[in-house]
Amino acid sequence: MSEQIVNVQENKEEPKKRIFSGVQPSGVLTLGNYLGAIKNWVTLQDDYECLYCVVDLHAITVRQVPADLRKHTQEALALYIACGIDPEKSCVFVQSHVPAHAELSWVLGCNTMFGELSRMTQFKDKSQKHADNVNAGLFTYPVLMAADILLYGTDLVPVGADQKQHVELARDIAGRFNGVYSDTFTVPEPFFVKTGMKIYSLTDPTKKMSKSDPNPKSYVSIIETRDETIKKIKSAVTDSDTAVRYAQGKDGINNLMSIYSSFTGKGYDEIEREFDGKGYGEFKAAVGEVCADGLESVRNEYARLVKDKAYLEEVMKKGADTASYLARKTLSKVYRKVGFYSVK
Ligand code: TRP
Repeated sequence: MSEQIVNVQENKEEPKKRIFSGVQPSGVLTLGNYLGAIKNWVTLQDDYECLYCVVDLHAITVRQVPADLRKHTQEALALYIACGIDPEKSCVFVQSHVPAHAELSWVLGCNTMFGELSRMTQFKDKSQKHADNVNAGLFTYPVLMAADILLYGTDLVPVGADQKQHVELARDIAGRFNGVYSDTFTVPEPFFVKTGMKIYSLTDPTKKMSKSDPNPKSYVSIIETRDETIKKIKSAVTDSDTAVRYAQGKDGINNLMSIYSSFTGKGYDEIEREFDGKGYGEFKAAVGEVCADGLESVRNEYARLVKDKAYLEEVMKKGADTASYLARKTLSKVYRKVGFYSVK
């Protein structure tokens, strides 16, 4: 039994609330993942019992190049740690290493309605985007996400706005299962951290910044060079106005102001004053600088870690042990409740 399992048991007297979240290893991680998710995860580690997962099962709902998926999984894990997730404090693991996710997903799928899944906006978006591959997994994706969450008695799920509907579905599934089979699952709450920002594409600021965007100019990759970041921000799409102001219709500037604010802690008013009478060029240069500075230590740490395969695999193994131990307990309970025959 690993050390972390012992901690989990010792904490029983005064249980900390449990948090689960995940990111797909479907490409290089972006500034959007960092500011919108991972940076917040770091701040939660001391006050909550956190599980942070690299959700590779989710990633194959769209076509992946196998070698790239393997590489991106390792990179995502290195990046979690480089961003400040401490594997001694939080359970960091890879979804496919814990078979209970797929197993619970089947049972939950039998307690989820076709109509509910049909209403998921992400499914509608993704089936348009990948019209040649609208597979069953893309449709049942939120069920697997519910399994991720419910396996660990999760209280809170830090997610961006685009995942709120999925967390709501997980709540509905949990409530329904509890109603039919008696109390089994903790009903999770979505959890938005104050600083959790949604960051938009640099080339189309009405769309979320996404690592699966085919145009690399649309996102800041966490692992690109300082110069690349500065250059991309310099060429970010803005508008024909000239004033640095946070306002409707100024999506590009609003997005750059969010980025600037995240790294400097300055409010929008303060930023407007700072750049009063100065043009977009000067503002973009400043955003590029703070962004590159803010990512520098993450980048350095990442470069070091990603080469240390032995360490990363040790973290993966330890994380999978801890997660499996917790997940198995829930899964056996579920199997018993639904009436699966168990042989001791
Ligand atoms: N669907 C999430 C996303 O694409 C990732 C995810 C999978 C997740 N399982 C989760 C997030 C469980 C929170 C909790 O962003």
